Amino acid sequence: MKKIVLFASGSGSNAERIIHHFKNDPNVAVSCVLTNNKQAKVLERCKRLKVPAIYFNREAFYGADTIINFLKAQDTDLIVLAGFLWKIPALLIAAFPNKIINIHPSLLPKYGGKGMYGNHVHQAVKDNGETETGITIHYVTKNYDEGGVIHQARTALEPTDGPLEIAEKVHQLEYEHFPIVIASLVKDHG
Ligand code: GAR
Repeated sequence: MKKIVLFASGSGSNAERIIHHFKNDPNVAVSCVLTNNKQAKVLERCKRLKVPAIYFNREAFYGADTIINFLKAQDTDLIVLAGFLWKIPALLIAAFPNKIINIHPSLLPKYGGKGMYGNHVHQAVKDNGETETGITIHYVTKNYDEGGVIHQARTALEPTDGPLEIAEKVHQLEYEHFPIVIASLVKDHG
């Protein structure tokens, strides 16, 4: 059985889609969801979906091996950042080489880097009058949004689309592509 651990900081709508995707898969399971935000809506979703969810604080994430030890003990095959906003510590990256992936709500390298998350990205896309946007699924390295690209998908924008409409189009792309890309990665990982 391949095991996926999800990290999420907020709503967790991607996490929910991923959990659904693997619910009846005999070979792949989402073993748990980790969050750095006690108020995150993802916690309610996990309760409803009956998936274990664990909150951790800054100290556990940056100051000790707690999270690494936990992920190793779970035999984690793939770590998926689904709307997770903290930078991943170098030790965690080293402990799981090429096994940590992120989804970013733009066509990287455009609109990436520190401070570029969620609506900040969609507002910048709008302000620049882009005629298209999209998603990027990529490996995680020590710098935000710079790891190797695994998959991109794009969507056209109308001049009337505001940040909310852009977010909606991007979320639809995420729901469609992210679970399938995750499935292909866990299967490739032998
Ligand atoms: C998603 O659009 C994801 O791409 C973005 O946060 C949203 C989370 O939505 N991630 C980033 O901006 C990371 N830099 P969700 O909590 O409903 O899945």
